[in-house]
Amino acid sequence: MKVLVTGSSGFLGTALCSYLEKQGCELTRLTSRNCDLRRAESLLNFTTEKYDLIYHLAAWTQAGDFCMKHLGEQWIINQQINTNTLAWWAEHQPQAKLIFMGTSCVYAPGSDLCETDYMLGEPIDSLYTYAMTKRMLYQGARALSQQFGLRYLCLVPSTLYGGGYHTDGRQMHFIFDLIRKIIRGKEYGETVSLWGDGYQKRELVLVDDFVSILWALTQKFDNEIFNIGAGEEYPIRTFAEMICTTIGYPIEDIEYDTSRYVGAKSKCLNVVKIKAALPNYTLQPLEIGLKKTIDWFYEAEAYKINQ
Ligand SMILES: NC(=O)c1ccc[n+]([C@@H]2O[C@H](COP(=O)([O-])OP(=O)(O)OC[C@H]3O[C@@H](n4cnc5c(N)ncnc54)[C@H](OP(=O)(O)O)[C@@H]3O)[C@@H](O)[C@H]2O)c1
Repeated sequence: MKVLVTGSSGFLGTALCSYLEKQGCELTRLTSRNCDLRRAESLLNFTTEKYDLIYHLAAWTQAGDFCMKHLGEQWIINQQINTNTLAWWAEHQPQAKLIFMGTSCVYAPGSDLCETDYMLGEPIDSLYTYAMTKRMLYQGARALSQQFGLRYLCLVPSTLYGGGYHTDGRQMHFIFDLIRKIIRGKEYGETVSLWGDGYQKRELVLVDDFVSILWALTQKFDNEIFNIGAGEEYPIRTFAEMICTTIGYPIEDIEYDTSRYVGAKSKCLNVVKIKAALPNYTLQPLEIGLKKTIDWFYEAEAYKINQ
């Protein structure tokens, strides 16, 4: 099977490519270096080969307050990336199924975070622009599917974690930042100061689980949207406690900085649809996922990044 992956060098892209290789797929890996998706003509180098599947993962974003600081750029760049990819798909690769990523921050606060809510209501202010570019991507794929009969799948992950995250100094998603700070607290005696009051809740999906679920859905469904979440969320304080136990750091030494940006208070995806679609839907326990992530932090020396 011939498969093209945009965003193949990213956190998810790296894990997905290694999984797809094990499934025997013949891969074409796109990154910003061999195909800058802001420029439509970059994709013209990839028209001869005809692909069965296109996984569109590329996006220009980072964790923390990045979205608030790059509102305008995010709109332009992500719209360019997505529109160029959709146009190339429709014109040059209409036989391929396009599988692309949505985001849980699309969901309006107070909604049921159910797939039928994806296009309804207003996302939180701090992620509004990024969220709307993801809605535009979904609508673009639906429109092309309706007009030309193209096949797509839109997948909406909650926060992904696991080994193989970025070590280039960019802002980290909360769970990586927590681990980094607590290891540094232990190794260097630094004060561990976490953002917010620690009562904001989050859910996590291990990236290894995510890619196998992605593959299972790819085999079975067309023209659908699925949330992929853990179905349960925990306060940041609980994650911190579990990390402290694994690493061997006193939980009582952790400080909370309520002046810092923390995003939504709670964000737990509705997983009724995915559980019905994949009856064997299970995720590895949080303790195991956190242990794997912490082990990777030590192996990759990712805790040495000083942000
Ligand atoms: N990670 C999560 O928890 C999470 C949660 C929800 C949704 N998602 C979605 O899942 C997808 C993958 O996320 P991720 O965490 O793997 O992101 P990531 O690590 O930031 O990777 C982003 C990828 O996009 C590529 N890219 C950025 N700008 C590009 C451009 N102008 N042209 C071509 N490629 C470009 C990057 O290539 P370079 O390496 O060359 O820059 C990289 O491969 C994204 O669509 C994201 O919105 C992720």
